Parts: sequence; C-alpha cells; structure tokens
Amino acid sequence: MGESIYEVKTMLLILVLFLAHFESIRGAAAPTAFVGQIRRTSLSSSNYVTTIQLGTPPQLVTFALDTDAEISTATFNPSRSSTFHLLRGNMSSDTATLNSTDGFVPTAPVKLNGIKFKLVNGKKDVLALGAGALAFPTQVSAAARVAKKFAYCLGGSANPAPIFFGNISYYFDSGLPQQGDRYPELDITPYLKYTPLKTPAHGKRGYALEITSVTLNAGSAVTVKVSDDAAIGTGALYTRIVEPAYTHIRQAFLSVLAVTGFQRVSSHHGPLDLCFNITVGQYRSAPLITFTFGRNSSLGVTADNYLVNVDNSNIYCFGIISAGAKKGSSVIGTFQQQDNLVEFDLEKKRVGMTGSLIALRSNCANFNFTRA
Ligand SMILES: *[C@@H]1O[C@H](CO)[C@@H](O)[C@H](O)[C@H]1NC(C)=O
Ligand SMILES: *[C@@H]1O[C@H](CO)[C@@H](O)[C@H](O)[C@H]1NC(C)=O
Ligand SMILES: *[C@@H]1O[C@H](CO)[C@@H](O)[C@H](O)[C@H]1NC(C)=O
Ligand SMILES: *[C@@H]1O[C@H](CO)[C@@H](O)[C@H](O)[C@H]1NC(C)=O
Ligand SMILES: *[C@@H]1O[C@H](CO)[C@@H](O)[C@H](O)[C@H]1NC(C)=O
Ligand SMILES: *[C@@H]1O[C@H](CO)[C@@H](O)[C@H](O)[C@H]1NC(C)=O
Repeated sequence: MGESIYEVKTMLLILVLFLAHFESIRGAAAPTAFVGQIRRTSLSSSNYVTTIQLGTPPQLVTFALDTDAEISTATFNPSRSSTFHLLRGNMSSDTATLNSTDGFVPTAPVKLNGIKFKLVNGKKDVLALGAGALAFPTQVSAAARVAKKFAYCLGGSANPAPIFFGNISYYFDSGLPQQGDRYPELDITPYLKYTPLKTPAHGKRGYALEITSVTLNAGSAVTVKVSDDAAIGTGALYTRIVEPAYTHIRQAFLSVLAVTGFQRVSSHHGPLDLCFNITVGQYRSAPLITFTFGRNSSLGVTADNYLVNVDNSNIYCFGIISAGAKKGSSVIGTFQQQDNLVEFDLEKKRVGMTGSLIALRSNCANFNFTRA
C-alpha cells in the first residue's frame, strides 16, 4: 500500500517534470522575427533612427537607418562590455538584445551573440541595412537563424513605428471597434505586392527596382512610360524621376489640376518648385498616382504621399522632382514610402510594398509596442 502511493507520487512527479520541460521548450520556442522602434528625426530629412541595446550589460546606441550601408558603425564603450570582441582594425562583435515578436507585439528580449559592427568615436552611428554579409539583416539572420529579410514602416508622424527582421505576418491596429479589451489587428501581409530587386547600377549601393511607368488616375488616366532602374531605400526624401519622363508627368499633373482648380503659387520649398494654395476639399480631390514596377507590381499613392505641406499653411508642393537633365537616375523617396510597409526579402531577392496603410484605416504608428 505505502509502496504503491510512493509509485503514484513518483509517476506524478515525472509527469509534472515532463510537462514543465515541455512548457519551457514551448515558452522558449525559437523566434522567427524581431521588432524594433524607428522614429523620424525631422520633417525635412529622410533620416529615421532606431535604438538598439549593444553589449553586456546593454548600452543603448541610437543608429540612423541606412539601406546603402554595408557595415554598421557604433559609438560604444568596449571596456564596459564583458561580451565585446575586437576583430580586426576597429571591426568588432558583441551581443545585441532585440525584442522577438509574434507579429502583433514585442514578445521577449533575446540576446543575439556575435553581431558585427565598426567602432567609431562620436561619428553618426549607422545601422547598415544593405544585403551584404556584414550588414545587420544578415548578421541577425545568422545569429538567430531567422529569414534574411527585413521590413520597415516609415511613420509620417513623430510616433514610433516598427522595423522587423526575419519572417512573420505583420499585424497593425486598424479603425475597427474595440472587442473586449483588445482592438482587432489587421494582417497587412496579404497586401504586399512584390517586384524583383535589381542589382544597383555599377558603383551604386543599396537596392533598386525597375520603374516601368507612372499613371495619373483622374477621370481618364494618363500613363507616362519611364523604364529606369530606381533606387529604393532610406537615401532620399523625395522621389526623383529621370527626364524626359518627369517633364511629361509634371505636364499631366498640371493639366489634371487645372480642371480641379488648384491655385498655383510662386513659393518654393527646398527642391520643390511646383506649389499650390489649396483647400481641404481640393486636397482630397488630388489624383491617385500609380507607379508600375517591373511587370506585375504597382503602388498607388494618394496626396498623403506626394503633396508636401509647407509651414502648416494651405500651401502644398508636388513632392516628386526631376532627377536632372543628365545622368540623373530615378529614386523612390522616403516621403512616398511613408505609411506603407516596405519589405526587403534578401533570400527571394524581391521588394514588397503594401500600399497606403491610411487607405486601410491604419498607419505606421499603429503597431502595438506594448510587450505581451
Ligand atoms: C522591448 O519592448 C519593450 C516594450 O515596447 C521596450 O520597453 C524595450 O525597450 C524593448 N527592448 C529592446 C531590447 O528593444
Ligand atoms: C576606433 O575605436 C576607438 C575606441 O572607440 C576610437 O577611439 C577610434 O576613434 C576608432 N577609430 C576610428 C577610425 O573610428
Ligand atoms: C513566414 O511566416 C508566415 C507567417 O507566419 C508563414 O506562414 C510562412 O510559412 C513563413 N515562411 C517561411 C519560409 O518560414
Ligand atoms: C491661400 O488662399 C486663401 C483663400 O483664398 C487666402 O486667404 C490666402 O491668403 C492664400 N495664401 C497664400 C499664401 O496665397
Ligand atoms: C508576374 O506574376 C506571375 C504570376 O503571379 C509570375 O509567374 C511572374 O514571375 C511575375 N513576373 C514578374 C516579372 O515578377
Ligand atoms: C496591445 O497589446 C497588449 C498586450 O501586449 C494588450 O494588452 C493591449 O490591449 C493592446 N492594445 C491595443 C490597443 O490593442
């Protein structure tokens, strides 16, 4: 009798230990993706920054995002980190702590060992988002065994927006009513439309895609053929289009606006020289501009992504400019990417864009950063 109770207790103990073990495996399931917060530093630049914890104990380093950079640079105190390794020159490696994510919220801080960067002193720290082996997406992919892929959502406001590394479905709060204690999140992944990544022109860094044409959709659509490889990334604020296509787009834009009664004004705003004094109603009637990339993919942008407000007045300038008369090349600027999720899939060599999240009653600031 006493012995059988002992046996039952032992079996229960084994069962409890087994379940606890199973739970710890499940709890520690390897993450498939990570999320960080990005912020826009000023309204008049293409600069976005993110803060990452480097070293043990962690030091906070604020990096500018740079899709044209292949080596991250950090101002960092190596003597205060027990996990720091000096490699060659000022190339170094250390532990970076990132939040894993389930696509809805950050889930847990995870230490990634051996992340490589270059030590600098007081220079601007840069998070290299290039496709090479030393750039951050490849470093994260190797350290955490996640997909070699990243996606950013560039916010149009000062609020934090997400940057993802790895493979996950992306969920954002949309304008749906609260259910219980949560707002239902919208899976924006199915809205991604992909186009192949092109190797940038000789001597250029970063990412490029083929821009086939630009269409102004107002009443009857006007399509201007472009046929150029356009850089896409964090390098420029405003979209630039090669000549003579740009001049045709500008003419088409002006003839559409003549109908809607936009009042042209002589103001200039930095490189923007096509400015209007318009009412809210006219802003809403501004045409949809559709960029066609490669053969299959298109991105429709509304006034939010091409009319630039000047000094909080009712003056707006056309945020698409000429790449210049000679040897200029096309660029998709950060202003046109704002409030879109842009995914760079370095394994499948393609770039995906959701189109305006505002049209889905969301925006880049609608990712829930409250840790589960
Ligand atoms: C993880 O997310 C939480 C909540 O947003 C934040 O407070 C924390 O700083 C993040 N940690 C890292 C390592 O990014
Ligand atoms: C190399 O790192 C040291 C220590 O942070 C720093 O003082 C020095 O300026 C760095 N050298 C270069 C070329 O950035
Ligand atoms: C990427 O993530 C999605 C959603 O979580 C999943 O359905 C898909 O199988 C993943 N793909 C790979 C290659 O892991
Ligand atoms: C813009 O138009 C409004 C209404 O017509 C006018 O009051 C305002 O002075 C104009 N602003 C400029 C800078 O032209
Ligand atoms: C266009 O889409 C079709 C069908 O989805 C696909 O087979 C083809 O590879 C795509 N072409 C390009 C250039 O992306
Ligand atoms: C954000 O996520 C937290 C859990 O991490 C949840 O409690 C909260 O309700 C969410 N907020 C919204 C607005 O959905």
